[in-house]
Amino acid sequence: IKNIAVLTSGGDAPGMNACIRAVVRTGIYNGINMFGVLQGYQGLITNNIIPMDARSVSNIIHLGGTVLKTARCLEFKTDEGMDLAYENLKLHQIDALVVIGGDGTFTGARRFAQRHQINVIAIPGTIDNDLYGSDFTLGYDTAINTVIEAIDKIRDTADSHDRLFFVEVMGRDSGCIALRSAIACGAEAVLLPERATSLDELIKQLEAGAATKKSSSIVIVSEGHKQGGAYDIAKHVKEKFNHYDTKVTILGHLQRGGSPSSFDRILGSRLGYAAVNELLKGNTQQMVGLRGNDIKLTSLDEALTEHSFKLESDLLEMTKVLSI
Ligand code: F6P
Repeated sequence: IKNIAVLTSGGDAPGMNACIRAVVRTGIYNGINMFGVLQGYQGLITNNIIPMDARSVSNIIHLGGTVLKTARCLEFKTDEGMDLAYENLKLHQIDALVVIGGDGTFTGARRFAQRHQINVIAIPGTIDNDLYGSDFTLGYDTAINTVIEAIDKIRDTADSHDRLFFVEVMGRDSGCIALRSAIACGAEAVLLPERATSLDELIKQLEAGAATKKSSSIVIVSEGHKQGGAYDIAKHVKEKFNHYDTKVTILGHLQRGGSPSSFDRILGSRLGYAAVNELLKGNTQQMVGLRGNDIKLTSLDEALTEHSFKLESDLLEMTKVLSI
């Protein structure tokens, strides 16, 4: 392997820049010519590919977002799109690719490597923590910290006014952000995509809190919650429960931004470093992930077909016990 390109694809996540930096510098350290692809798979198709040297990734480790930019690219799902992308890689004599993103990115990488002669290593980068083969995905820790900071502020005003807040958080079909934030913010309840919620139970719990003089309540709602988002649940609860004035906050995309936490900077660095080393060992169609405190490989086939229930059972239990 002489030339390696790196790209970020799908939703951005804090820590991606730390990871890009590690990929580029590990490659250069090993005598490889490094390239960056701008705007994810879109940039492969439009030949938006630039050479990268060690200085091109200076002073980015602390930045949120991705300096390579990202996109969700529909054209790369077609054979024609992939063939164009491959032509452009050949133009630069690029023989291996590091892709950073979520399951959509991995699906594209696997199909691309099966169709064309290109070695690929994938890095789990998404705030959702919804990938098999890595205990934590890049950006998840920072996103939780961002959510906590926002909800702490909501708690101040909720408490001053004796109010009930429904706060909706991201995560797509994963309740990981919601559950950890609920524990860390002392939320009164959390509604998750992975579990059905009895709204009558929720109302009973809120009533018990009001009866024992709780001055505010916060209910965290995952955006993927099957019985509706924060507005739907608030409307339903309000019909039967009127001890507090009720408000709704959707945290939205602020959860994806911000300077990465130490955890994500270090995870991004470890995964980027490992990805290049695995390519140099001849590995392909694998994901590098964190298991325990070790970096481990998982085949893309396994990463895309296996699913793990990532909600910690003790945290689930604690949401009930600690919120009385
Ligand atoms: O996958 C990351 C994520 O932020 C999800 O939590 C959310 O559902 C989705 O991306 C939002 O995507 P977009 O930025 O394209 O609206």
